[in-house]
Formats: sequence, structure tokens, C-alpha cells
Amino acid sequence: MALPANFLDELRARTPIAGVIGRSVKLTRSGRDTKGCCPFHGEKTPSFYVYDDHFHCFGCGEHGDVITFVMKTTGAGFMEAVESLAQEAGLEVPKASPQAAQAEQRRAGISEVLEAAGKIFQRFLHEPQGKSALDYLRGRGLSEETIRRFGLGWSGEGRGVLAAALRGQGIKPEQLIEAGLMKQGEHGPVDMFFSRVMFPITDRRGNVISFGGRIMGDGQPKYVNGPETPVFSKRRSLYGLHLARDAVRKGAQLIVVEGYIDVIALAQGGFGGAVAPLGTALTEEHLAEVWRLSPEPVICFDGDAAGRRAALKTVDLALTALAPDRSLKFLNLPEKDDPDSLIRREGPAAFKARLDGARPISAALYDMLAEGGGRATPEARAAFRQRLIEVANRIPDKNLASEYRSMLLERFFAERRVKPGAPKKPAVFARGSAPPDAGEANFRRGRLMLVTLLSHPALINDVDEAFARVALPPAYAKIRDALHEFAAGAKSLDTEGLFAHLSLLGLAEEARLIEALAAEDHRPDPDASLAEAAEKWWSWYILMDFSVEMLRAQRDELEQFWKAHQDDAGAWERLIKYNELLRQALAGEYGSAEN
Ligand code: UTP
Ligand code: MN
Repeated sequence: MALPANFLDELRARTPIAGVIGRSVKLTRSGRDTKGCCPFHGEKTPSFYVYDDHFHCFGCGEHGDVITFVMKTTGAGFMEAVESLAQEAGLEVPKASPQAAQAEQRRAGISEVLEAAGKIFQRFLHEPQGKSALDYLRGRGLSEETIRRFGLGWSGEGRGVLAAALRGQGIKPEQLIEAGLMKQGEHGPVDMFFSRVMFPITDRRGNVISFGGRIMGDGQPKYVNGPETPVFSKRRSLYGLHLARDAVRKGAQLIVVEGYIDVIALAQGGFGGAVAPLGTALTEEHLAEVWRLSPEPVICFDGDAAGRRAALKTVDLALTALAPDRSLKFLNLPEKDDPDSLIRREGPAAFKARLDGARPISAALYDMLAEGGGRATPEARAAFRQRLIEVANRIPDKNLASEYRSMLLERFFAERRVKPGAPKKPAVFARGSAPPDAGEANFRRGRLMLVTLLSHPALINDVDEAFARVALPPAYAKIRDALHEFAAGAKSLDTEGLFAHLSLLGLAEEARLIEALAAEDHRPDPDASLAEAAEKWWSWYILMDFSVEMLRAQRDELEQFWKAHQDDAGAWERLIKYNELLRQALAGEYGSAEN
């Protein structure tokens, strides 16, 4: 028995082809192309291209999908290749059974019915009965060409019109119910859509899988979408995907918008790479689908509060999947706009300029997180700083998470520097309150961080970059350098190996001394799990008024404040104190008073 088409689709979706091919062929991405040297014929310059769902060699002509690739490179048969890919993807290959065959047949039947219905709706639109619908679409600025390309239609107004039109083709109302075009009412089947402009929803290959229908004018609900059926799943489908795939392959930017009309208006304006979820929030499956087409799609939701909330939700979802080749950009629209209204008002050139200015998630993230969160008090700022760290830590790729942490914290600190024209009062220290004794507290925290790494060397690589920014007294900095060196060179990161390394450098005794000091203080638990130790480490890090940079910012703020309040003796004293702390930090004497 042939395998069901939807199983094979799922398998291909869960098995990114570039990943599979990348194991045996060195692939590079240049512009929108991913290519490498063809494994099927000898060559030195790459002519073997990998697309979202297939490969093609322009040298020898070999081509196929991920299953074909496995068959051709391993000599496996079709079922064998499917089995091995399915196992990797954690999917079970459906067993051949009369039920499975029946379900497959049922899906094929539904597809035929949907296809036929789509043709009828299109025909209705161009008949006299569809005149007001056609006028409506034209009134919204859509050209004849666009209407045809998106297969837009008219549902008809009377009840049972579709069933009557399809009867001649031997299609029965029960089949229309199965396909989601009618539903069972008290007195027999009733239409799902009537008096609506029809938008066919297709799968990635262009087969109709459902419809959305818009009322003309202001009635409710504005849009009705077909129900879930054996061929239609909202959480997987994206409106416009089929056309967008072609466009993206030809170089268009992939854009995720909120609505049907947005997709269509953008396509007509020359932005063919637009897709939209179907009246639900963007799901994990949607993201996986768009990342198959583009490493950095642009999220461009409506400019209202709901659109901004939806964007933040998308960030939340994306974070846990971010990788160097899977990212997002964000394009914010003016408050009252959606992509359709904007491109009609400003035109394609202006939209292009906006699109080019879309911000990478890394840059947009800070503002999205900052929005609405108060940062006026030290407590609120500490909580916000904690949140930044937590958000970055959700990125599974360790290096990337570390980059995000540094970047978010840099923004956090930069934000605090007094900008010209900004209010002069420092945000951190209210007048009259004494600054915390940064020197001593940081010295203690630096020690705790160091000791945690001595007992959990496996953490070193993860925190290395951040730790490097912390101002430590010279004796501590030497050990930190040794840890860095050890982690860069050692095969396994264990405490025994680490101390052997420290011994070689003559630093073991010093390290033991630091451990003993920490024990008196607030002994980090050497038996804590790695995750617990990491959490502790970062909590000390964020509490730390660490770098010279940071001290300089605090000093500058105090100076600004003092200039405006020269009669404030407290401000003068704090300024002196921070000047001294900064001088010590610059001289590497940071915190040495405690020794
Ligand atoms: P919008 O209300 O933003 O509609 O809903 P729109 O796309 O801008 O359409 P126009 O310009 O008013 O015609 C965005 C999307 O949310 C879903 C639809 O998929 C719509 O395209 N939606 C909206 C529904 O499913 N049902 C509704 O009642 C409204
Ligand atoms: Mn809208």
C-alpha cells in the first residue's frame, strides 16, 4: 500500500532536508541559496542546490526530496528510507490496513470536493449574482489578476446553492459536510458559507484544503473559516503559503501578517512572500513551516495593541527554537494600520523602505520586554534585569543564549546613562539615599561566582563571556583566566582536571584559599546540580554592579545630578565615592579593601 500523503508531508516537514544532506555534504548559504559540491558526481565548484523541500544538481541533473536523497546515497529502498527518517523524527510509520487505506481514500475524496467547490465559487463571482462581491473586491483595490491568482470567489446567497451546483457532478451533501462546506442542521444539511466573499485556503502545494469567507460590510462574524477536517488543520496551515513559496524561492522576503487581505494586498504590491495564520495565534508548527523557507522571516502584525500582543507571543514561542539559522525580524506598523491599509496609503516603495528597516528579534526583543514594565525603582530595575537574563536563558543554543544575555544587559546598562535633554534626576539613587557599597558586595559576589565554577567547571563555557566583563581583583582575575584556558583546552570539564591545571600554574593553593573564604561567607553548595549552580551563578552576576563601564555610567549620572544640585552635600559625597571606586576599578584594585 502507498503511504498516506499527509504522513509523508508530516515526515518531510519534521525532517529538514538541509539538515539531512548537511551530514554528508558541506553546505554553505550564500544569499538565499544553500549549496554544496554534488555528492553524485565529482565537482570542485558547488552546483548542488538545496531548497526547502528538494535538492537539485545543475551539474548532473540529480534531484529529489529528502527521502530520495537517503535512497540515493545509502542504497536504501523507499520504505527503508522512510522508516529510518521516521524513526529519527519520532514518527510512527502508519501500518498498511484496510482502515488506513479507507482514510486515505476519504481524504482524496474531500480534496476533490473542495477543488470542485472552489471552481463553483469562482464562477459565481463572475456571474451576475456575484456582481456586488466583485465590486466589493475591486473597491478594496484588488485587480482582476489578483482575484484570479488567489482564486477568490462568491458563495452565492440562497441556502443550498453550492449543493445544487455540485449535484450534477455526483457530489452529495454528506460529502460537503465531510469537507467542511456544510454542517448538519435540525432540518438537514445547511451551508457553512453564504453571502460571503470566498478565500480558498491551500496547502503548501496549492491543493484547496478549506475556505475562509468574508461578509461584505460590517456584519459579524467578519470572517468564517472552515472547520478542522481530515485535510485541514488550522495550527499547521498558513494562508498564501503556496504562492509565497514560489516568490521566496525567487528572492522575495517571507513576511508573516495577520489577515487574508494583508497577504493579498502585499502580493499585489509586489511582496509575494506574505503568509498569514488563519484567525489563530501563530503556532510552533507555523514557525517550523516558515523557517523551512527562510532563516529570517519578518513578522508584520497589525499596529494595534492586539497586534503587538500577538508579536510578543510569537517572540515567546520563537525563543525556545532560535538558532543561528532560525531567527525572526519584526516590522512595527503605525497604530491604526495593517499591512493592507499601509501599502494602499503609502505605496509599495514606502513599504519596501519599512521592510528593509525591520528589526532583528535581538534588537526588537528589548523594547518588547521593556514595554509596560516600570523601571523607575531599583527593585523594578533588578526585576527587569532578572527577566532579561531569564528570557535569554530560554534559547537552547548555548552560544546564542550567551550572546543574547550580553546584548540585553548592554542595552539595559546603556539605557541608564543620562541622555541630553533627559530628566536630570538619576533613576537609581533617590536623593538622600546612600549608594550601596558596591566595592565590597561585588568582591564577595565575584568570589562566589569563582568558587561555583571551581566546583562546577562544566559551567565555564556558558558563563565565560559574561564573566570576562566582571571587574575582579588581580588575584581572582588570574584564576578566572586559568579557568578560561582550562575550559578551552580540556576534553572533559571536571574539578579534578581543573585543579591539576591550577597546580601546574601554581594557582591551586590560591583557589583553595578562595574556597575557604567563600565557605565562611555563604558557601555555594558544591553538590548542587549543574542547573542549580548555573541559576545561582547568574543570580550573582545580575546583582553585581560589575564593570568599569557600569561604574562609569553611575559616576556620570551622579555628576549630572550634582551639577544640577550643587547645594546637595550628599550628592557631592556620592560623586567622590564613585570617582574613587571607578579609579580603583580602572587600576585593578577593585574591592581590594576587603583583603
Ligand atoms: P482582521 O480583523 O485584522 O481582518 O483579522 P483583515 O485581515 O484586516 O481583513 P479586512 O481588511 O477587515 O477585510 C485578521 C484575520 O483574523 C481572522 C481572519 O483570518 C482575518 O484575516 N478573523 C478575523 C477571523 O477568523 N474571524 C473574524 O471574525 C475576524
Ligand atoms: Mn487587519
